Amino acid sequence: MRRGSTHRVFLSEFVRNFHTTGSLLPSSRFLGAALARGVEKSPRHGPRRILEVGPGTGAATHHLVAALKPEDRLELVEINPRFVELLEARFAQEPAWRSVRDRVSIHCQRIEALEASEPYDAIVSGLPLNNFAVADVEQILAVFERLARPGGTLAFFEYIAIRSAKAAVSGRSERQRLQEIGRVLERFLADKSDRSAVWLNFPPAWVHYVQFPGEDDNA
Ligand SMILES: C[S@@+](CC[C@H](N)C(=O)[O-])C[C@H]1O[C@@H](n2cnc3c(N)ncnc32)[C@H](O)[C@@H]1O
Repeated sequence: MRRGSTHRVFLSEFVRNFHTTGSLLPSSRFLGAALARGVEKSPRHGPRRILEVGPGTGAATHHLVAALKPEDRLELVEINPRFVELLEARFAQEPAWRSVRDRVSIHCQRIEALEASEPYDAIVSGLPLNNFAVADVEQILAVFERLARPGGTLAFFEYIAIRSAKAAVSGRSERQRLQEIGRVLERFLADKSDRSAVWLNFPPAWVHYVQFPGEDDNA
């Protein structure tokens, strides 16, 4: 599928559903690749269960599809039916995507409501957390923790300095919301994450790589 068509759908969804879409453009291929690299950090050797949350038009999905091994499973959870339609079209039309279609499930729903039959080895998230209420961010992070296998990984991004830039031009309550999200993320990331900057994206982004405690860590 042409980049122009995915960008057009993304832009129109930004206008229609700003709160959930969160950005004007899909992630660049550099950011998509950096997110997908989170899966390689999973310590799992056998077949992997991979979850992508908020795939949008498939910027990271493209790289996940390319790296999928024959026994792996990929599940996509996307709240916006227009993005789901576009993803279905990519799985029908693009040869690399078509070749893995039988190992992929697409759920058109909110991640908060996902009932997983088994935990995931790796989670990749494109959710625009800085757009959400503090309680929703806390709930989503708790959902990630619940869905991940002990020792599993999570990769997600946020635009560099976006919270402080937005806070500088916002009123008091919006500033407090952004600052509180910053504190929630700081607590969540402490002691179990590293991050990498992706400059070739608009805007540039941090990718956070989280490794959840393994079974031995809880002993
Ligand atoms: C910033 S866009 C990222 C899209 C894509 N991953 C990328 O990097 O280009 C956020 C995506 O998350 C989806 N989304 C937002 N809230 C969601 C939720 N609660 N559950 C599942 N998907 C959600 C949006 O529809 C959108 O596709």
